[in-house]
Amino acid sequence: MKHIVSGIQPTGSINIGTYLGSIRNFVRLQREYDEHHFMLFIADLHAITIPRDRLELRKTIKELAAMYLACGLRQENLSLFIQSEVPAHSHMSYLLQCFTYMGELERMTQFKDKAQKHEKGVTASLFTYPALMAGDILLYDAEYVPVGEDQKQHLELTRDIAIRVNNRFGEFFTVPKPLIPKVGARIMSLTEPTAKMSKSDANVKSRINMLDTDDIIRKRIRSAVTDSEASFYYDKTNKPGLSNLITIYSALADISIEAVEQKYKDVSYKDFKEALADLVIENLRPIRQRYHELIQSKELDAILDEGAAYASKISNKKAAKFNHKLGLGRKRK
Ligand code: TYM
Repeated sequence: MKHIVSGIQPTGSINIGTYLGSIRNFVRLQREYDEHHFMLFIADLHAITIPRDRLELRKTIKELAAMYLACGLRQENLSLFIQSEVPAHSHMSYLLQCFTYMGELERMTQFKDKAQKHEKGVTASLFTYPALMAGDILLYDAEYVPVGEDQKQHLELTRDIAIRVNNRFGEFFTVPKPLIPKVGARIMSLTEPTAKMSKSDANVKSRINMLDTDDIIRKRIRSAVTDSEASFYYDKTNKPGLSNLITIYSALADISIEAVEQKYKDVSYKDFKEALADLVIENLRPIRQRYHELIQSKELDAILDEGAAYASKISNKKAAKFNHKLGLGRKRK
């Protein structure tokens, strides 16, 4: 069985950036790659690289599980699971740390950014995080890994680690390829459009959360930073705010950036923002409704149990083979 693997950290509310950069893409890819099996998970082990409130984390894990499904993933070729319920992930992370160099981890821009924000308590796990991520992927011999732009560097390191292991032991891991969406791979903050839209931004006006009400969505878009030029075209460098809004429109309407430019070239920013708000609301409303049904259902637990069982079966086998390659434990017949 060929696998496609990806994960999302359960930290804060899911926003439209995460949706466009990952979940919406998973839904599309599930149709395109219908012979692949999708291993999608909630990366709770990644979340604790920074201290979290226990009850808050547990709540967010469940919310993220419901959100994955509410966005329209289909069950046929999917295993949805919680990372910590599949113990081979943390085991593999350690084994792969033995194949990862300090210098490589020191170069990771996400580590540098996060370490800067948490100067006092930078944990060792925040540093070794890319080895955990490599384990998540290599355990399933993933052929493809759909992610947003900000995970590209981690994926390149995963590929390097896989190649390093293969050079030593022969073809042991599949070397995974990233699948980065053409539009929507990097949605920017609404208030500071040169920075990524992020779950952890202290300013709630910087993002649209998937569970925001229609009114809040409209407000956030109305107050999004643009520019004073008042002419409608995409230019990421000189008009980052407007270009970000055009990107969101393009991704949600499934039309090209050029088509959005053409459609709105003669309208004011204000009118475009109203049209964008309508489009976002129209897209998020059914997801929100389905989410509220799912979060109260028993179906969710059953899906997560099944996902963890399948993931454990595959990953235990792969981890045992790797133990064997490395000479760990006893030889078994
Ligand atoms: P995380 O939780 O930060 O983000 C989840 C996914 O959403 C994408 N994303 C965005 N895309 C576009 N615009 C944005 N503003 C935006 N913000 C987030 C991310 O690129 C990502 O695809 N380390 C990963 C989780 C992970 C993982 C894995 C992913 C753990 N193990 C194995 C793939 C394979 C992370 O922190 O993503």
